[in-house]
Formats: sequence, structure tokens, C-alpha cells
Amino acid sequence: MCGIAGYIGPKEAVGIVLDQITRLEYRGYDSAGVAFRTDHGIEVLKRAGKLTNLRQLVAEIRPEAHVAMAHSRWATHGAPTDSNAHPHYDRTGRIAVIHNGIIENYLELAQELKARGHTFRSETDTEVAAHVVGEEYETCGALTEAVRRAVQRLRGAFAMVVMCTDEPDKIIAVRNASPLVLGVGEGENFLASDIPALLPFTRKVIVMDEGDLAVLTKDEIYLEDAESRPKLPKVVTIDWDVEAAEKGGYEHFMIKEIHEQPTAVRHCLSGRLLKDGTVHLPDTFDADTWRRFERIVIVACGTAYHAGLLGKYMIEGLIRHPVEVQYASEFRYNNPIIRPNDLVLAISQSGETADTLAALRLAKEQGVKTLAIVNVVGSSIAREADAVIYTQAGPEICVASTKAYSAQVATLALVSLHAARLFGSDREKLDRLTDALTRLPETLEACLEREAEVVRVAERLQNAPLLFFLGRGADAAVALEGALKMKEIAYIPTQESPAGEMKHGPLALVEPGVAAVFGLTNPTTREKVISNIKEVKARGGTVVAVVMDSDSHTPQEADEVIRIPHTDSHTIAALASALPLQLLAYHVARLRGCDIDQPRNLAKSVTVE
Ligand code: G6P
Repeated sequence: MCGIAGYIGPKEAVGIVLDQITRLEYRGYDSAGVAFRTDHGIEVLKRAGKLTNLRQLVAEIRPEAHVAMAHSRWATHGAPTDSNAHPHYDRTGRIAVIHNGIIENYLELAQELKARGHTFRSETDTEVAAHVVGEEYETCGALTEAVRRAVQRLRGAFAMVVMCTDEPDKIIAVRNASPLVLGVGEGENFLASDIPALLPFTRKVIVMDEGDLAVLTKDEIYLEDAESRPKLPKVVTIDWDVEAAEKGGYEHFMIKEIHEQPTAVRHCLSGRLLKDGTVHLPDTFDADTWRRFERIVIVACGTAYHAGLLGKYMIEGLIRHPVEVQYASEFRYNNPIIRPNDLVLAISQSGETADTLAALRLAKEQGVKTLAIVNVVGSSIAREADAVIYTQAGPEICVASTKAYSAQVATLALVSLHAARLFGSDREKLDRLTDALTRLPETLEACLEREAEVVRVAERLQNAPLLFFLGRGADAAVALEGALKMKEIAYIPTQESPAGEMKHGPLALVEPGVAAVFGLTNPTTREKVISNIKEVKARGGTVVAVVMDSDSHTPQEADEVIRIPHTDSHTIAALASALPLQLLAYHVARLRGCDIDQPRNLAKSVTVE
């Protein structure tokens, strides 16, 4: 969510950090600021709203600095205002701080500091942290030591960057459960909260570990661990291109990422689903460990949670072992029953979602094995789980998740097949899923070729006051995802549930103008869903049905029909039906003129609980 950028070197620093922070816009933010070193000390400029507001301010001042840091904020403590935006000063104005994450004990600290005469200009935990660093600096007179001491007093998950007037030739960065990467240049160095911000400047990157403190000068990067022991920085060269994270000719990242799904799934399956149908997941557990699992508990948030629901259908269907899917945000507080032979499986695109990370940590504390399905390599969840399977979907920029979802479901299909071979399963079901998974990239391609059908439906639904998303079985799980997409980017209220639950309440909301989108990819429940379609039609609602090519009966019942290719595996067919729903949300949002890649109030990576 919040973005961090920093630069020290011979070039004009403010332009560089603004460029860096622009590349992190996709993370979602509501205000931004920059601090830079001048002859008179550290100057701070900040503005609520989009980065253009800050850029205007910078253009008026035209700073010339060689040390700077920038921040884009997503409000957690205090409204998104100019004064709450980062950077924040200590009480002397000598020290400036930016930070991502949350200082949990900031109220206690603020009280202590107030008792010692400190006053605050904002409502943020960050300003409190700046005052703590300042207070330590007043005592010890050395910036690195002051930051070390301050970190001891701060509780929570944060990444923090500090500049000081009296030590103008350095920037100090601390990573504490919130990502930070350093960029190594020639006679210049960089830092950022995410790699894409560094790539236009350098490909040599140091990923800071938990608890690390770094001191950047233009010629050197000094790194130490949480115990203040110096450590050798491990420089990695990033080989993926920044182009991969840009729009590539599409109008929005979302539509680009929707169209990338066949490729994303191909990458996900490559080297794992072999030609003979066997599955190769070398980085997980050995066969004996797998066989000991009696139950799988999936923890995830948002779209990843919806992917988990499809995982449950696949795994239970094949190996008949119970699978529970829990919201990670609820897991810790529900007194969860975790048994020694459980496998806790965390799913996360970013690998940084605070609730999912907390659920994973709880599982680890209970001593059970943990597996992560993650997209972002080296992210916190990937690092902390006992084993990780990367979805290999490539960087996902749009806040609304699309290609990560299909890659997560494809990965869960791999896990199901792997488990099925170890535990034994119905041969026919196994072959059906293997076959459907092998053909999944082509199936998704065929879904995307029918975008024009979806555009027509979007035109019809664009002004609906309420949209229902309904289905049974795996279609019900996909209905949740279709509705989430519509809410997230088109801001149309939705009502989503298993189709059979309609008559227990939601049906009361149906009236002319309201539309219902039904998923109908499972032939065994088709007749039941058609009855539900009739219930909606009888009350004047408009019906859109997503059906397989092989279904010749349903189209007569619906006002609009979107077709997907026939697939024998019900779960894979349901996954394929998610693509027209993603496209529907996209085109409705486009017709309504919404800010598609950065929907209001939402963030790509939710690193607060
Ligand atoms: C945010 C994003 C969603 C995502 C969810 C979980 O809400 O906007 O797209 O599904 O977080 O994120 P994760 O990175 O853990 O998959």
C-alpha cells in the first residue's frame, strides 16, 4: 500500500524519488510527500490526493538536492490530509522520517513524549516515530545509533527511512516486517519498498531481511542485522524487465492482466504438470510428510480466499480429505482448531497481506506444517512458510486481482493432483482434472476471444442499481469473485450467494432494472439453477447466464448469454467462467468512467490488519 523511495548521489534527487514513487502508484495511496536536503536543512513538501498535486508543488519550488526520500501514503492513522502525509519531522525539525506499516504502541509513546513537552502537528503514528528518533538523537548525537535505539522503543510492523540535517550525506533505512529493497548504483544508491521502483535506475538489488538496518551513502551501503552485527549485503541482479510491469498497449493494467491469464497459467504449469500427466512439485514436502496430512486449512483474503474455495472443491473431490477455507482476517480471532496433522495453506498474491501472514504465523506457533501459494518472490509469506509454490503469474499491478486468481486456482489444481497421486483417488476424476488443467491455457484463450459478447452485456448492465451473482457448487464460489470485481472497480452494489439461497431473503431485492448473473457450468445442477433463473425473471429481473458451449437448453431462459468452451472438470469450467465476469466488471467500469486500476478506498497490498 504505502510506497517508499530514496536516493543519494550526484543527480537531482527529488526528480528521481518522484519517478520512483510514481512506479509504486499501483499500490494505492491517498497522499504523498518528499523530503530533500538543502543548504538550510531538510525541506519537506507534501500534499493530499494524487501525485500530480505534489508534483505541482515541487515544480513551483524547483529543488536541487542530492539526497531525497519520497512517500505515498495510504491512511491508517489520521485522515488523508496534507499534514498527515509523510515525511514527518522530529521536534527540532532536524530529522525527517517516512514509514510504511503501523507503530502499535504509538499512543503510549505519544503520551510519554507529550509529558516531556513534545507537541505534534499530525495525527499519525509516523510523527511519533520521528519524535522518538529525534529524542534518541538528542541524547546520543549519532544518527545510526539514534535509529537503533528508537527501533527498540517502537512496536509493530514497519519499514522506516530517516534523514538528518546534521548528517546530510546519509539515509538510514530499517526493515521491520514491512518490505524494503536497496538499489546499488555507481556513485549513487537507492531504496524503495518494491523492486519496480528501482528498475529504471539499477538492476542490482539488495532485499533487506527482517530487522536489518541499512546506512546508504552515495558510495556505500552498510548493512547490519537486528542485533547490530554488520553483514555482507547480498546483491541480486533482477532479470525481469520493467516493461513487464507496464501497460504494453492496453488502456489499463486490469485489461492487460485479464488477457495475460493464458500465459500466466502456462508459466504456472510449466515444468510442474508434465506431459505424462504427472505433477512435479519439488519444493514442497516429501511423500511421507504429504501422506501424514489429514486435513488442509486454507487461509487467505479477498480474491485469494475465493481461489481457496475452488481449491476446496478440487482437493475434497479428488482425495476426500476435509479442506476448510477461512478468511485470514478471522482465523486468529476464532480460536481455530489446529491439529498436529493439519496442513495450513496460505494463499496470497503479494505475500505481504498482514492478516494472511498473521494466520500463517499462528499456524507455525502451533507447530503444524505450512505451505504458501504466493506470486511475489521473496515476499514475507513466501519466506516464512515451510514450503512455497510460486504462482509464476508475473507482476500484477491493477488493484483488482485477475491473473493471480487463475494462477492460484491452477496451482491449487496442481496441489490436488499431487495429493491425489499420493493418497489415491478415483482414476476417472483424476484424469478429468489432469486433462482440463493441461488444456486450461487454451480454454482461457477461447474465453477471451469472446470479449465482444461481454461488452454487449456490459452495455446493458452499466446502469443497474444492483447486480446479483449466483450459482451452485463451484459456480457459487466464482459468483463471489465476479461480484467482488464488480464492486471493486465499477462501484455497483452486488448481492452474491449460492443460487438456492435466493428465496431465503435476497429475492426480495429483485425488481425491474435489477439484473442477475448466473454461472451455469455444472450440468448436474443445471435444472435447479434454471428454476432460480425463473424466480428472478418472474419478478421482472434481467438474467445473464454464463454457460458452456455444450449447453443448448439454458440460453432460452436467459436475456443475455455468455458462452465459454466445454470443459469436463466442473471446477476448471467454473474457473474459466470467472474470465467473462472479470471482463464484465472491467467493461461496466469503463463505461461508467471509473478509475479502474486504482479503485477508490482500496489498496493492492494490505499490510495492515
Ligand atoms: C487486497 C487486494 C485484493 C487481494 C487481497 C488479498 O484487497 O486488493 O485484490 O485479493 O488484498 O491480497 P493477497 O496479496 O494476499 O492475495
